[in-house]
Amino acid sequence: MPDRYDLPAGFRWGAATAAYQIEGAVDEDGRGPSVWDTFTARPGAIRDGHTGAVACDHYHRYPEDIALMKGLGLDGYRFSIAWSRVLPTGSGPVNPAGLAFYDRLVDALLEAGITPLPTLFHWDLPQALEDHGGWLNRDTAHHFADYAAVVTDRLGDRIPTWITLNEPFVHTVFGYALGTHAPGRTLMFEALPAAHHQLLAHGLAASVLHDRGLEVMLSNNLTLVEPATPSPDDAAAAAAYDALHNRLFTDPVLLGRYPDLSALGVPDDIYGAVHPGDLDLIHTPGLDALGLNFYNPTRVAAPTDPGLPFDLVDIPEAPHTAFGWPVVPDALRQLLLHLRDFYGKALPPVTVTENGCSVDESTTPDHPRIDYLATHLDALATAIAEGLDIRGYYTWSLLDNFEWAEGYHQRFGLVHVDFATQKRTPRASYAWYRDLIAAHRAHRSG
Ligand code: FCB
Repeated sequence: MPDRYDLPAGFRWGAATAAYQIEGAVDEDGRGPSVWDTFTARPGAIRDGHTGAVACDHYHRYPEDIALMKGLGLDGYRFSIAWSRVLPTGSGPVNPAGLAFYDRLVDALLEAGITPLPTLFHWDLPQALEDHGGWLNRDTAHHFADYAAVVTDRLGDRIPTWITLNEPFVHTVFGYALGTHAPGRTLMFEALPAAHHQLLAHGLAASVLHDRGLEVMLSNNLTLVEPATPSPDDAAAAAAYDALHNRLFTDPVLLGRYPDLSALGVPDDIYGAVHPGDLDLIHTPGLDALGLNFYNPTRVAAPTDPGLPFDLVDIPEAPHTAFGWPVVPDALRQLLLHLRDFYGKALPPVTVTENGCSVDESTTPDHPRIDYLATHLDALATAIAEGLDIRGYYTWSLLDNFEWAEGYHQRFGLVHVDFATQKRTPRASYAWYRDLIAAHRAHRSG
């Protein structure tokens, strides 16, 4: 069996973060409020009332964090740009101080020999755009393309590859359908126009980026969907869930069409959101690589509640992370093979843009994280040996950070953060990842 040391020469090693989860400094240097500032202020929205107001204070401590990345020997660092730092109201005037922060960050990364991989949108929509309907408003897609132009005019000379959106599935479902994330709407399937407008935003921005000679990625949260039993009812439920979680966000980009959403009771034009020509705008720019955020497979059964076309059930035989997510590393390999079989030549190269796990703070050393990373990297090496084109791996996450509705309770970092003092302490998994990267390089060049 191939393992992680067999990953190809040139395989890119990275780590990932996102702006609202680490930056803090929410009121500094002209940053405008985002939906996460508003949502975290809502009583009961976040566990223990935590907010990202300070988070890891990365806005001020980024030199220390880049030193940690350099210590790992990373090739690349995936971070996100806070739209409302650059354009405080989402569309109006540019905030020079906001752009200057990312300019300094990018130069410091390059100085450390690390390639920046920015994500333009990781869920922190400017509140001013939310006040006009957020992603339910088609105009937001056009504002996003304008924002992409502003940012790449400033940073595009130093950064070859850009990610447009992070996980539009999670943002749509948690933010607009269920209301457990910002902006906290509970529209159930009527949330799906927000999905279409994000995909349109991706397509419009992808054209802007390609016009500037830049490469484009989209980071999707994809899961291996498995029916609970071979029964036709469970298979139908699994197909409906696969359409919602995976295909809705990948088919339009790679194939230029939506999957059949009738099992969800959603009309083909997604409640009038899909206009003639939209699918061309989404599909034609193409993707230079697909960003894959993978955490766990999903087991699906026929519904017990007639209001939903599926039930999500546990995978009791698998170990679980501190977050309660099942750990099934081979599901990553199976998912990649499935993507290749399903999309064929339409599947571009893949880069894993997130993968990692939350470990209880009291578990030191953090061996469950090392096991999680090692087994998922072995699964990637096996998928590559089976013919997949996988270019790199960005672990989630460099640092413990603000984990959305869970506040600071879920700890995904290679580096422990004491949120009272901001002290960073590399964990056992940090040393393990550093040594793996060095050993892989030595093995491949030797
Ligand atoms: C992903 C998000 C990322 C982080 C991880 C644990 O869905 O993209 O910000 O919260 O989950």
